Amino acid sequence: MLSLKGDSMKEKFIIYGAGGHGKVIADIALLNGYREIAFFDDDIDIKECAGFPVVGRITGAESIVGDKIIAIGNSHIRERIQNNVKSVTLVHPDAIIGSRVTIGEGSAVMAGAIINADAKIGKGCIINTSSSVDHDCVVGDFSHVAVGAHLCGTVTIGKHTWVGAGAIILNNVSICNNVIIGAGAVVVSDIKEEGTYIGVPAKKMMKTTGNHLCGGGYNHKTIANGYVAPLEVAA
Ligand SMILES: CC(C)(COP(=O)(O)OP(=O)(O)OC[C@H]1O[C@@H](n2cnc3c(N)ncnc32)[C@H](O)[C@@H]1OP(=O)(O)O)[C@@H](O)C(=O)NCCC(=O)NCCS
Repeated sequence: MLSLKGDSMKEKFIIYGAGGHGKVIADIALLNGYREIAFFDDDIDIKECAGFPVVGRITGAESIVGDKIIAIGNSHIRERIQNNVKSVTLVHPDAIIGSRVTIGEGSAVMAGAIINADAKIGKGCIINTSSSVDHDCVVGDFSHVAVGAHLCGTVTIGKHTWVGAGAIILNNVSICNNVIIGAGAVVVSDIKEEGTYIGVPAKKMMKTTGNHLCGGGYNHKTIANGYVAPLEVAA
């Protein structure tokens, strides 16, 4: 086991989750000046990620000294781990952050993302590559604005909500907790009921297989660290 104790804390970065999201987080950490990175993952077959070692299981990372972030796509698992881990906020240097924007603990903002004035990003969120969150938006804790998605001005997104790749949420729209917006959807009016919504304009999906949730889905049955996410039964 690699020892991360003893040296300068600023140089050490601990990433929970050695998957695709984790390796992007590693790149951002390097750009933020971290030099020593270690991953923790419960998949014991993964030994390395992004050229850095996977040094142990997630439960073993708590005692390691260093700045930490949870890089796990499933928002419920992310929350469960983050509740026990003081996490840092990580922003890619090529993201644009407007005036008076607040970004919660453990959130990650990826390359090319734009967050405009007075937006509020909760804790444990992912504001992914080339997405935009416009002025006065509120993004709830542990939500994900996926690659290339756009929230127009004064949009409110609930907790554990996933806005899929390239989706657009029109201005002043509110979306409740535990919603998945499918890739490419355009949401034109408030969503008050949890579920999966697709299309232009977005409509609730009556039947989902859960095959294409990319780890973040609310209605995706997930077992990890003993956690079973709620399984939505399709109507
Ligand atoms: C909406 C979504 C969650 C549904 O996943 P799913 O339950 O596995 O859906 P399936 O793949 O079983 O598709 C069910 C049907 O919906 C259609 N469908 C799936 N996603 C769709 C979308 N985004 N827009 C329009 N139709 C879609 C499928 O073509 C299929 O149609 P059919 O029954 O006529 O064959 C998923 O397709 C999606 O869009 N995920 C977002 C992924 C993403 O944004 N990743 C970003 C990573 S940063």
